[in-house]
Amino acid sequence: VIPPDIAAVADYEPHARQRLDAAIWASITGGSADEHTVAENRAAFARIRLNNRVLADMSGAHTRLELCGQALEHPILLAPTAWHRLLHPEGEAATVMGASAMRAAMVVSAMASLPLEAIAKRATSPLWFQLYVQPDRAFTHALVQRAEAAGYGAIVVTIDAPVTLRNQEQRAGFRLPLGIEAVNLRGAQPPPPPKAAAHESEVFNGLLAGAATWEDIAILRARTRLPLLLKGIMTPADALKGIEIGADALIVSNHGGRVLDTQPASIDALPRIAEAVAGRVPLLLDGGIRRGTDVLKALALGARAVLVGRPVLHGLAVGGATGVAHVLKLLRTELEIAMAQTGCATLDAIGPEVIWRP
Ligand code: FNR
Repeated sequence: VIPPDIAAVADYEPHARQRLDAAIWASITGGSADEHTVAENRAAFARIRLNNRVLADMSGAHTRLELCGQALEHPILLAPTAWHRLLHPEGEAATVMGASAMRAAMVVSAMASLPLEAIAKRATSPLWFQLYVQPDRAFTHALVQRAEAAGYGAIVVTIDAPVTLRNQEQRAGFRLPLGIEAVNLRGAQPPPPPKAAAHESEVFNGLLAGAATWEDIAILRARTRLPLLLKGIMTPADALKGIEIGADALIVSNHGGRVLDTQPASIDALPRIAEAVAGRVPLLLDGGIRRGTDVLKALALGARAVLVGRPVLHGLAVGGATGVAHVLKLLRTELEIAMAQTGCATLDAIGPEVIWRP
């Protein structure tokens, strides 16, 4: 199944593009507006230089960690992404098998195209559930209870995307194919129809009706016994607010450049957030992770773990569960090589000194 010319994660991209309908391709690759942040997420990693360290004793080296009460084999998680059946007929069932084969924790999207219980049944590695607070709050809380009952180990609330602007997707005329939908959101009361008259704001009076606020996070915090993570933190101020409200971990993320264009790269936002948070809660990072050295850089700059979005989708489109497992395997092996080359036998040993400073 795996094309023989694939040596690195990025090599999956052209193969996936070839297999997918152009509008679907636009919807997964695309970002917000002019896609400066999409490009910046990659460019920023490329700008960061590393110091090697030679002849270090690497006996007993490993990549294990504990995160939110769970033991993980390695710090590479699957980011939540919508509608995997767009990419492969088996959808999230294939993704979760690939993740489990590589003992990778997977964050299942609120917009998954299969029931969260069916995905959980196939998992042998940790699963977390990603939540978008729905305008129907009672439905939102019931969804959290479903995830708890199905054995999910944490709730990841994505807080950065109440409204989006996706021009590439619009130009390509992307529409969900018949038969693919966010099945776990079936039955939610739709938001009130926009009341805006022609001259009024359809953003403020329409799209934002029922959007979440910090108050909703406090309520969710009180209602679930699971660890609660906030995804979409990009400033020290929001990080501190998240800790104050009781978040167990924070995900530094600009949503892969899909929400507010011209935000900085998430890796560039990380150091200041890490400084403000000062170890009170673990930080995770996503956006542009394509190499083991990217993982190493994120850990050196203050993250405990990373999440990977688009490459997993490319692997899924090309090779189903096998493709997903292979993408994770490549990243993990590259991380181990990078650790060996920088003299870090454990994740805790990866500190700021691996980053070269002019
Ligand atoms: C996403 N992302 C996302 N995030 C989320 O919280 N819920 C979701 O349903 C989705 N859906 C989604 C679909 C697609 C096609 C993409 C590309 C992304 C964002 C995702 O979790 C993550 O933040 C980024 O994808 C990370 O950047 P990279 O690894 O794609 O560069």
